[in-house]
Amino acid sequence: MKSSIERCHNVDDFRALAKRRLPAPVFHYIDGAADDEITYRRNTDAFADCDLVPNVLVGVENVDMSVQVMGKRLSLPIFCSPTALQRLFHHDGERAVARAAEKFNTYFGISSLGTVSVEEIGQTITTPKLFQLYVHKDRGLTYNMIDRCKAAGFDAVAITVDTSTGGNRERDLRTGFTSPPKLTLRSLLSFATHLNWTANYLFREKFNLPQLDQYISQGTSTAISVGDYFSTMLDQSMNWQDIEEIKKYWNGHLCLKGIMSVDDARRAVDIGATAIMVSNHAGRQLDGSRSPFDQISEIADAVGGEIDIICDGGIRRGTHILKAIAAGATACSGGHMYLYALAAGGQPGVEKALLNLKNEVERGMKLMGVTSLSQLTRAQLRYR
Ligand code: LAC
Repeated sequence: MKSSIERCHNVDDFRALAKRRLPAPVFHYIDGAADDEITYRRNTDAFADCDLVPNVLVGVENVDMSVQVMGKRLSLPIFCSPTALQRLFHHDGERAVARAAEKFNTYFGISSLGTVSVEEIGQTITTPKLFQLYVHKDRGLTYNMIDRCKAAGFDAVAITVDTSTGGNRERDLRTGFTSPPKLTLRSLLSFATHLNWTANYLFREKFNLPQLDQYISQGTSTAISVGDYFSTMLDQSMNWQDIEEIKKYWNGHLCLKGIMSVDDARRAVDIGATAIMVSNHAGRQLDGSRSPFDQISEIADAVGGEIDIICDGGIRRGTHILKAIAAGATACSGGHMYLYALAAGGQPGVEKALLNLKNEVERGMKLMGVTSLSQLTRAQLRYR
């Protein structure tokens, strides 16, 4: 009989399984977004407003799915965006995602709010590693994280630039989700009816945020919502000058995560960033923001070829990746595309999720009549 993971053929299948396995506050933290969640839905829906026009009879028995991103050759045009708190979704957390990404030779991103240390990740995988830096008010902490990434052999740092304050995540307000999770009268039933999760949380390795816990207690031993964490702990005065200083200090591939406008993309080129992640933080910050895919063409027209353009968000299918690349993206990245799978089945789950996407990209390329991703252009797209 096939395992439940083998029966997951797409992101929605994994989502359904994750929903069964996770206590409601944890599931809704992953699944939710800001305000009316319009941007969150639009991130995926945008792909349906654009059609692919295939060519045929070109000989497609061998297709090359590799792309060059932030100085590394990846075997897949999609990588794992950094996401927070992964050991709350599965007890192996970032370890599971890192090892799965290694098997597919694609970037693994780890968050400042990660639950496994950058040192451990540095020792665990040999494939490309990206660190997502949240610029904290505590500059000592911010620069300490960069030092640790250097020592751990990270390949790139992505500074998140769309979290100047916390998004209004109403599902978290309703469920009372915090880091670390705290029991409320409301959530008690949900934790009690997900005993597997609760036993893992209570009896396995203690929850912590090893990138932060030497400096601050918030998030590790003092419970706080992610929205409040952003609003109180991150540096709202952050500006382009700070980015230039951090770039100088890091002295390696720098990515800005959360760029949406052409002006900012141009500025990222001017300061010498290697990449931008065109992203609205999965609709978790500014609801009403445009979707990354809708925004790729104008950004590619302005700065294509001068900087790596990553389409981050809404990716659920291989054809979404092909559309983004045809519109001008260098590659894509995503969180939900592997997070539900992590919750549903740890490392085998994430591997299956990446395999599904890999197969879809390969099949999509063959059906589109291209043997390398660079052959995809806007000539093969039509907007409705
Ligand atoms: C989020 C962060 C932590 O919850 O990336 O959106």
